[in-house]
Amino acid sequence: MIWRSRLGWMLGCSFLAVAASGCSDAFNAGDLVYIEAPAMTQDLGPTQGNLKDKPRLREKVRAAMKELYGPDPQTIRVPKGMPLSNGGALLASHIEGGKDPGPHPILQVSATPGSAPAPQAGGYAIYRRNCLHCHGVSGAGDGPTAPFMYPTPRDFRPGKFKFTSTPSGRPPHRDDLRRTITYGLDGTSMPAFEPLLTPAEIEEVVDYVMFLSMRGQTELALIDEAATFEEGDAGEALDEETVQSLADSVFKMWRKSQSARLNPKVARTEPTRASILRGRDLFLASDCKDCHGRLAAGDGDSFIDQETFNKIVFGGNPSERARRAEELISRDSKKLWKDDWGNPLRPANLNKPMYKGGRRPIDLYWRIAKGINGAQMPGHYPSPFDDEKTWDIVNFVLALPYEPTLLTDAPQNAPAGTAVADARGR
Ligand code: HEC
Ligand code: HEC
Repeated sequence: MIWRSRLGWMLGCSFLAVAASGCSDAFNAGDLVYIEAPAMTQDLGPTQGNLKDKPRLREKVRAAMKELYGPDPQTIRVPKGMPLSNGGALLASHIEGGKDPGPHPILQVSATPGSAPAPQAGGYAIYRRNCLHCHGVSGAGDGPTAPFMYPTPRDFRPGKFKFTSTPSGRPPHRDDLRRTITYGLDGTSMPAFEPLLTPAEIEEVVDYVMFLSMRGQTELALIDEAATFEEGDAGEALDEETVQSLADSVFKMWRKSQSARLNPKVARTEPTRASILRGRDLFLASDCKDCHGRLAAGDGDSFIDQETFNKIVFGGNPSERARRAEELISRDSKKLWKDDWGNPLRPANLNKPMYKGGRRPIDLYWRIAKGINGAQMPGHYPSPFDDEKTWDIVNFVLALPYEPTLLTDAPQNAPAGTAVADARGR
């Protein structure tokens, strides 16, 4: 298994600082990557099966990716129109092509080509030191430590992120990525980098995550397009214009998201008793309880039970979770059990004040208003909840961990004319 040998290398070296001096002897002098560069250009991804028996078409995809994004992780090419800060200049430490690199800058990571020490600056270098061992060379969420985690690190390539402030299903705003990287995702293995990185370094690595994500989305789009051709017609597939237009549509989605934050139009309602109780009634009258459960313990009817879930996640080799799920969950079960990346999933226990996407009222507003992408939780704005109703639920959610009787003492059937009845009526 590939990850074993990679892990062996890493454990043999200093764990995080893979480029530390004691390790470099094991590799070619000046070779700064410990995982071979071609890993970046493999046609992996959810649709890889489409090109399984089509080597010429696979080669076409590879060639197009090389042309657009550069031949290896150290030589980054930023295609025209990619929405990154300073045209992509934060990705690497050294820009080739003079002061004005034009619309297609080629960014060279090593400070002076041919010199040995590790690159110190730029999103690529920061990613490589801090993120790669979990998120992987191409951002596929397949770094050497990834298989041991639950949930596993995000695969950036489908361009889908859970904790966003943009309309449901859209790419994140860069502020969303900055928040995740700065404060981490509570209750998961995703660390907070505030103590480790300067704000400027965080901006650099935000750009690199965006780069990997747009790159991955383009790759998947190219694979899908190539798969519509027969192997014998490979010569006609993926002409320059098609490749550019597929990449452009990815850039367009990201660009749009940068001006499409869903901010509340109404300021937060004060967390008064009345507001908290209205929020509670809305929680009980809406779909929240189907997933989170009547006592919000994360045990609603929609999801598989805790015992089955534990068997899938912890009942053996982590790489066989999907197989265990197949065995344990009957085919006709309508129960939800996994997120879009294939991780087994349960709704949050809202009696615990731990929120992956942040504990500020605005973070919870975004979670409830527009849901959690890829993780089954739907958006609720503008229907069934307008801003005022959403703030009432935020106030309820924030109060619940400190006041469990809010739900244990809640009336089973809400009297007509209350918030519950209103919500049912919609
Ligand atoms: C120890 C492993 C680990 C390291 C190191 C790590 N991550 Fe993560 N990261 C995770 C896990 C696990 C998740 C997914 C959590 C989930 O799905 O709930 C994640 C998720 C993310 C997400 C997705 C957030 C969303 O809204 O979906 C981003 C962005 C991210 N990480 C960026 C980074 C960056 C940038 C670095 C380095 C500066 C980094 N991570 C380092 C484990 C790690
Ligand atoms: C279809 C199922 C579903 C519905 C409906 C649903 N949720 Fe969720 N919710 C989830 C799942 C699953 C998670 C955990 C996602 C994860 O851990 O990645 C979650 C997580 C959360 C979180 C934690 C967010 C964080 O940052 O960790 C909150 C708060 C929350 N839900 C509140 C609500 C409220 C309030 C409602 C009703 C307005 C609601 N949910 C409706 C499935 C659902």
